[in-house]
Amino acid sequence: MSDFNNNFWNIWVIVITLGGILFCTLLLWTQSRARNTKGEVTGHLWDENLEEYNNPMPNWWRWLFYLTIVFALGYLALYPGLGTFAGNKGWTSVGQYEQERAAAEAQFKQAYGGLLSQNIELVANDPKAHEVGERMFLTYCAQCHGSDAKGAKGFPNLTDNDWLWGGAPDQIKETITKGRTAAMPSFAHLGPQKIKDVAYYVRSLSGVVNANTPEADRGKEVFNTAGCTACHGPQGKGNIGLAPNLTDKTWLYGGRDATLIETITKGRNNSMPAFGEFLGEDKVHLLAAYVYSLSQGNRAEAGK
Ligand code: HEC
Ligand code: HEC
Repeated sequence: MSDFNNNFWNIWVIVITLGGILFCTLLLWTQSRARNTKGEVTGHLWDENLEEYNNPMPNWWRWLFYLTIVFALGYLALYPGLGTFAGNKGWTSVGQYEQERAAAEAQFKQAYGGLLSQNIELVANDPKAHEVGERMFLTYCAQCHGSDAKGAKGFPNLTDNDWLWGGAPDQIKETITKGRTAAMPSFAHLGPQKIKDVAYYVRSLSGVVNANTPEADRGKEVFNTAGCTACHGPQGKGNIGLAPNLTDKTWLYGGRDATLIETITKGRNNSMPAFGEFLGEDKVHLLAAYVYSLSQGNRAEAGK
């Protein structure tokens, strides 16, 4: 395949490549036919008696040079190199990559085939699957969720049994396969005072601040009328797959006053990328089992 839209660059590359080889051949040929200068000195003299000879190149060296020329021509006939000419073997880097990938996939299937047909709870207890899952997690997931899977601000902890999108094996698998995008809308239109009140109320839900204050009452009023309950539920206990529980002490973004105000004012739209197409179902299956095992308190220590 060529990105050129006319033939000029194709011919340009061919001329330069073949021209270069031809030039080297001619140079070598004419030089080796030059008169025999063996034993002649050039007249350059160092350190009183160190003379430079004008001997011709040794034969072994010349033949090596010819060999590189033959090699270059052979190579250009077999592999891509001359402009858009694909070479006789039809080799491409993409083709090689796909071949290697297919071989690796086949090897993976052979090694873990038994595990892929088992359900995720069973796989989660398999030490070998745990080890592979951990390795994949470190490669594909750790940059966001941390190498211990405990997450960070905005990136959920996967070891705590507190789920935004559900902790059942199938729900975890679906999260990894399709990705998830959270939709916490912005409530800037409420204005600073109401946002402050509702943030206070949210904190009172988890017992951080006193729930029997006028501020909490005003906040509760906002919570019930502004639409928070539609997603977080009437008691703020959340709904799996819709909005998180606000009554526990587990925070995705943080439970401090300023953070809550920021969350409510600007909204949050974090997303978990989809890995289904990129990794394929087999690997997602093992990863789901690994993630599932993290919160089950059954880390397969036995296999270590
Ligand atoms: C680019 C960052 C990023 C990468 C990479 C990433 N995740 Fe996530 N993941 C997130 C974010 C952000 C969320 C939370 C989405 C939300 O706010 O609802 C999430 C959520 C999840 C959840 C749902 C947690 C819950 O409480 O329901 C699981 C499970 C998960 N990720 C597993 C994985 C696995 C396994 C991998 C590796 C294949 C991975 N993630 C890679 C950013 C990432
Ligand atoms: C359309 C549904 C929806 C509505 C309405 C909604 N939220 Fe949310 N809220 C979410 C989602 C989804 C998240 C999680 C965002 C994420 O995972 O990135 C969230 C997250 C939050 C968080 C952060 C929790 C944490 O763990 O850090 C707070 C606080 C919050 N919402 C408060 C409110 C308040 C107060 C209101 C009403 C003024 C409200 N929400 C209205 C869907 C909603």
